[in-house]
Amino acid sequence: MSSASHSRRITLSHLQKMKQRGEKITCLTVYDATFARLLADAGIELLLVGDSSGMVVAGHSTTVPVTVKDMCYHTHNVCRAQPISLILSDLPFLSYTQTEQALRNTARLMQAGAEMIKIEGGMWLVPIVEQLSEKGVPVCVHLGLTPQSVHIFGGYKVQGRDPAKATQMLATALALEKAGAQLLVLECIPYNLAQEITQAVSIPTIGIGAGPYCDGQVLVTQDMLGLTAGKPLVFVKNFLDGQTAGVLGAVKEYIRQVKASEFPTLEQSFA
Ligand code: KIV
Repeated sequence: MSSASHSRRITLSHLQKMKQRGEKITCLTVYDATFARLLADAGIELLLVGDSSGMVVAGHSTTVPVTVKDMCYHTHNVCRAQPISLILSDLPFLSYTQTEQALRNTARLMQAGAEMIKIEGGMWLVPIVEQLSEKGVPVCVHLGLTPQSVHIFGGYKVQGRDPAKATQMLATALALEKAGAQLLVLECIPYNLAQEITQAVSIPTIGIGAGPYCDGQVLVTQDMLGLTAGKPLVFVKNFLDGQTAGVLGAVKEYIRQVKASEFPTLEQSFA
């Protein structure tokens, strides 16, 4: 699918209808105008201005050092490309622990051009999601391996394998939907748990390391282009490998494989 097949700007209601039709949603991370234009032209529906910028762009080993100012900078860069895709921006580490602080920092990100904000956590986010959605802010919640909590997890480890934790994650997803969340990102959880959550909620789920049964998929763009140093993660595929049409071709192939449910496979997922 190319941007030509989307004649209007992508909105949340497009994503909601895609879930209802069973059409997979494609998402990639982006931090600058060049990639924003390229990804949108390729047909990516959702651009995630991720706080992974702290690792990918700034070279930190975690996302913890990222600030609201950094996220506004990247969001501004992406918006200047005027992509047709929906722009989702991360609120960084400890920038949304209190409602007033969350509202203030959300205002900064949305005034920089974000159309939806993403926050990481669990049940403690319910009152914050309620307040943000009541005030007209579309909210995405990131569950599972939430990278801002890496030091609590003791590393980047699969979450929700323990049955009690899996039950809790499902209950959290339902409570967040009730609170007004309009999208969920599920990271590094068993594929059957991601499938259960996806079937239980009426809002779209976007998976990363969460198996093939989510409503959509996201990867860090530099990972799926094979640019990230070190051993590739199980759930990452290098779409530039063997590609004759360059970066644009790689992104179009990612879109094709996600839409055709060819990526990710169960082998690229956690049990
Ligand atoms: O910041 C980010 O890039 C993310 C993705 C890994 C989902 O949150």
